[in-house]
Amino acid sequence: MIKGFIFDLDGVITDTAELHYEAWKKLSDDMNWKFDRELNEKLRGISRMDSIKVIMDYNQVTLDDATVEELATKKNDIYVASLDDMTPDDYLPGARELLTHLRSEGFKVALGSASKNAIKVLKQLNATHFFDVIGDGNSVSKSKPEPDIFLYAAEKLGLPPENCIVFEDAEKGIDAAKAGKFHSVGIGPEERVGHADIRFNTMKEATLFEVKSHFKELF
Ligand code: BG6
Ligand code: MG
Repeated sequence: MIKGFIFDLDGVITDTAELHYEAWKKLSDDMNWKFDRELNEKLRGISRMDSIKVIMDYNQVTLDDATVEELATKKNDIYVASLDDMTPDDYLPGARELLTHLRSEGFKVALGSASKNAIKVLKQLNATHFFDVIGDGNSVSKSKPEPDIFLYAAEKLGLPPENCIVFEDAEKGIDAAKAGKFHSVGIGPEERVGHADIRFNTMKEATLFEVKSHFKELF
């Protein structure tokens, strides 16, 4: 039986990929590193420190740990400043409606995000009240594709993975859900999240009615 839902944040509840892109681009320009939208796609769902390593590998750069940490902080300062302009109008279409519907039907709802800025994003959206549990980049040390963040959220909800559906827009996020033996809904194109149990192109299509009709025997 499905009793709980665990949502990724960036790319599921709101689209921060562009803001992450702009912040990484600014840092990369300052460092004379190559960085484009294709590389930005590879950062979807992975942690800040894993992201900077992907960018450095791409540019064949090696730096000492303290400098890498400092540069990641610089990117984060740019990103966090850009979040000030986020408002409750910035939910992805369909996301607020689904969260409202799930609460009204009595499902438990958790956040399972890799971001250390998740609370700030939820506050900007005025979305904190939708969640019984908030799991973010500060909750666990092993990030996606490891299942730890979803296992953390499920445990705090008091539910085993087989009673939960994870919503994810990242390839590594679906990998994490599957590694934890969760049911999964992929949001995005086949080549990214085609390995999810079910897939929708956008959150707008992912209504509770549609989700229930795909996982019929579990409701
Ligand atoms: C994920 C994003 O939600 O959070 C990634 O998809 C990002 O692109 C990661 O790198 C970490 O975010 P933050 O806010 O902790 O730098
Ligand atoms: Mg995401």
